[in-house]
Amino acid sequence: MIIAPSLLAADFTKLGGEAARVGRSGAEWLHLDIMDGHFVPNISFGPAVVAAVRPLSKLVFDVHLMCARPEILLEPFARAGADRMTVHVELGRQTTSLIWKIRSLQKEVGLAVNPPTAMEAVEPFLAEIDSLLIMTVNPGFGGQSFITETLPKIQQAFAWRAERGLKYRIAVDGGVDFQTVPLCAKDGADTFISGTGLFSRPNLKTAVAKMRRHAVAACKT
Ligand code: DX5
Ligand code: ZN
Repeated sequence: MIIAPSLLAADFTKLGGEAARVGRSGAEWLHLDIMDGHFVPNISFGPAVVAAVRPLSKLVFDVHLMCARPEILLEPFARAGADRMTVHVELGRQTTSLIWKIRSLQKEVGLAVNPPTAMEAVEPFLAEIDSLLIMTVNPGFGGQSFITETLPKIQQAFAWRAERGLKYRIAVDGGVDFQTVPLCAKDGADTFISGTGLFSRPNLKTAVAKMRRHAVAACKT
């Protein structure tokens, strides 16, 4: 089980302290949401911010590129200290070259799929990725409600992984909180990205531990 707090929900007036706090929270990954104002109707932060907070935490830096042209950003984020980079399958024919590029930068490869996109879109890439990120909200904003209709996608990802003897992680992102974590874990998710669900709690460390307990209790494997 991996818990990945999303920095998007942190207090932006003290990002360094927030990144350090996540580093001490018991979580494994720090999720970094990159929004370009084109692929999604919002803008977050770029490589300079990631580079600035990189020395403050030893966690795996998980960069989620919600960007129309991720090809121009892979090298800058690799230099900024990303350990893994996730691109969206909605970019279509570019997907293969993006996966190769991330691999050539010696970073872990993630592939994300939006709620309206069918799982058939990701199927050709399953053997080439380290994680499949199932979006459980439409990307662009934190604090949205979990879309329960995405749960069958987790089941499908789990079944494909078992049938094909693959090893990719099954991650969920969007509206993940104490109520929705068990639903995802029961269907086979093993990686839980959570912004508001964790940062809205008074104590991040306690919240991460509680989220992990909920995930383990409902876990399918
Ligand atoms: C949504 C982002 C998420 C976001 C999740 O577009 O990809 O990572 O930070 O935020 P919550 O957990 O608040 O839904
Ligand atoms: Zn994200």
